[in-house]
Amino acid sequence: MFNKLCIFGVGLIGGSVAKAARANGLAKTIVGIGRAQDADNLVRAKELGVIDECYIGSPRFKNFNNYKSFRDSLAHADCVVIATPVASIEDIFKALKDGGHWSVKGKKNQINYWSDTTIYTDVGSTKGSVIAAAERVFGFVPNNLVPAHPIAGAEQSGVEAALVDLFTNKRLIITPTTTTNSDDVQKIRNFWQGMGAVVSEMDAQHHDSILAATSHLPHILAFALVDMLGHKDEQTEIFKYAAGGFRDFTRIASSDPTMWVDICKANKQEILPLIEQLSAELAKIHGLLARDDYQQLFSTFAYAKSARQRFLNQFEDPNMTKSITFHIKNGGKLQGEARVPGDKSMSHRSIMLGSLAEGVTHVKGFLEAEDALATLQAFRDMGVEIEGPVNGELTIHGVGKHGLKAPKNELYLGNSGTSMRLLSGLLAGQPFNSVLTGDKSLSGRPMKRVTEPLALMGADIKTTEKGTAPLYITGKAGQLTGIDYVMPMASAQVKSCLILAGMYAQGATSVTEPAPTRDHTERMLAGFSYPVKKDGSKVTVTADGKLTAADIDVPSDISSAAFFLVGASIAEGSDLLLKHVGINPTRTGVIDILRLMGANIEVLNEREVGGEPVADLRVRSAPLKGIDIPEHLVPLAIDEFPVLFVAAACAEGQTRLSGAEELRVKESDRIQVMADGLQILGVDAQPTEDGMIIQGGGNIGGGTVTSHGDHRIAMAFSIAGLRASAAITVLDCANVNTSFPEFKDLVKRLGLDLVCEES
Ligand code: S3P
Repeated sequence: MFNKLCIFGVGLIGGSVAKAARANGLAKTIVGIGRAQDADNLVRAKELGVIDECYIGSPRFKNFNNYKSFRDSLAHADCVVIATPVASIEDIFKALKDGGHWSVKGKKNQINYWSDTTIYTDVGSTKGSVIAAAERVFGFVPNNLVPAHPIAGAEQSGVEAALVDLFTNKRLIITPTTTTNSDDVQKIRNFWQGMGAVVSEMDAQHHDSILAATSHLPHILAFALVDMLGHKDEQTEIFKYAAGGFRDFTRIASSDPTMWVDICKANKQEILPLIEQLSAELAKIHGLLARDDYQQLFSTFAYAKSARQRFLNQFEDPNMTKSITFHIKNGGKLQGEARVPGDKSMSHRSIMLGSLAEGVTHVKGFLEAEDALATLQAFRDMGVEIEGPVNGELTIHGVGKHGLKAPKNELYLGNSGTSMRLLSGLLAGQPFNSVLTGDKSLSGRPMKRVTEPLALMGADIKTTEKGTAPLYITGKAGQLTGIDYVMPMASAQVKSCLILAGMYAQGATSVTEPAPTRDHTERMLAGFSYPVKKDGSKVTVTADGKLTAADIDVPSDISSAAFFLVGASIAEGSDLLLKHVGINPTRTGVIDILRLMGANIEVLNEREVGGEPVADLRVRSAPLKGIDIPEHLVPLAIDEFPVLFVAAACAEGQTRLSGAEELRVKESDRIQVMADGLQILGVDAQPTEDGMIIQGGGNIGGGTVTSHGDHRIAMAFSIAGLRASAAITVLDCANVNTSFPEFKDLVKRLGLDLVCEES
């Protein structure tokens, strides 16, 4: 890419640039430039082959073999990288502008080393200071100067510590000015991308304010803590007992103090207000503790914990986050007793309705998985105080139907379609605007099914051209009007979305469903004493009513139990008792379908808990036969088809599913992804537009399949291992955490040999 690359300062960062540029074929010749006091380091860099030539700024080294003049070093350079501490960059600009004098025929000439055909860039941690230094030296910011900052580093310094992959998958921010050459920006972008960095662009001031918060303040905090503790008399005692947390927290206090003083100086304007805010936060915590206000203290800590998790989920580049692979040894049987985690649909609704209620709602059995936690976080972001979850228990301090506050940022809903669709209805009629975003899968899922009927009610929601998230919602408090809507598809999410919007609309809002779908919203609203009228397939609400806090006991999720219902059915010798499973008739399609196939499932100890039917399910292995799945059961088992396809592959004869086109727009295209995986395992599975035809009873082989990030696909293929003739590897299983984080441990305890590999 560059014939000649010059690097000022071949320390940790400069040396890593040199190594990475060479390893990735980005520069033919690399020249290192340094001060006299850095001579040893430069000599070492040359010995190590990190650089080809060097210039050392002192006469003492005139005789050094590869000594080059400053002018020769810079001549014909395509790119100059200034990788010295920020405080020295101004001097380097000066040296480049009028670096020296030489005499021709006794006449002294000033040399300008700054060349219009070279691109200059730097790696300074503050960017406003670099731009200001250029202005002071040149009188303007040269248009071939592209300021940049790789967000990477280590506490060690010097070329020996340089790493060829220091920038791989790390972020790099370019901060061009309005006059910077766009071609040069593109070249610097390509250069860093070539070294593996993830490049973004922003203006220098924005960069400095962000970095002050996420880098400079934490460094100051680490230095401050160690300074304070170090001066305490009992220091040996304190440090002797310091454990991993202290080490992690104070790691950055081992950084170079000179460099950090420079950074603090350069970004003082941004850092000072942050120190004040942090002092106020500490004073707040001091006050809470002094007043024994442990509830507020808990809320503060709980908010921080979930905010951190949310930021990790949202912003960690997929390349930077761990990928999870399940390795399943074929064979085994499922035996014993288990209680699978709480119902996902009800967990979402418990947060939503508990938040809108007047009074305090206690929830038991809440699903502590990413999807439900995304809803929880969204309501915390709208000012609702929620304690927990601790062992599935939550306390929600309801704010009433009109008590939500405008969220300060967009609401990030991860992988959760239910959160996004239900919230779009609820937020359409609020007195504030909001933005709903999600992960890659959720950002590809259809949202017009909710935004179109909401628009008929007077809502203002913008989507992408494709009708997908982000959703930009302009709150229309008091301006929504009820509609009488007949849903074109059987969707509980659409129904629930319109019910929630209807609670804020003038007049009645009615939704008619073409086939029964889960009715948890209606049941829970009734549990909160909110009037809901049900007339056959039509449900009606109005804005007249309020929610009164009520305790909720969330039963186990039949959709999670389904993996074990199928697993125990297909693995000979299995006998399993699944306790406290929700058997709401709008959810039990999986039991009906498996029974039609010949499964041996007993429904025991039926009871009603908090308005929802619950039972223990005993399942023993049984020979299954293929069936034509009755279409009326499809919406009642909509989430269970991935694992039902596995049951079909084990059943004698043909199983045919139709009328299930909705499967194509779930977390993945579940028809295509399951057919592809089953075919890899040697199963005759033919996808159709709205279902699948599976010839069962043959051998299920081993192999590697991918879940395409879909939790239920990952778990379904794991279950297939019970009947496979060889080991199965399932790729991309991290999203199992969206609905069933305990799956891998539970399935192992019950008898499947599953090893979870994180990489
Ligand atoms: C859900 C409804 C269903 C289901 C989803 C949860 C709900 O989606 O697939 O997992 O909680 O309302 P659709 O309404 O899109 O069918």
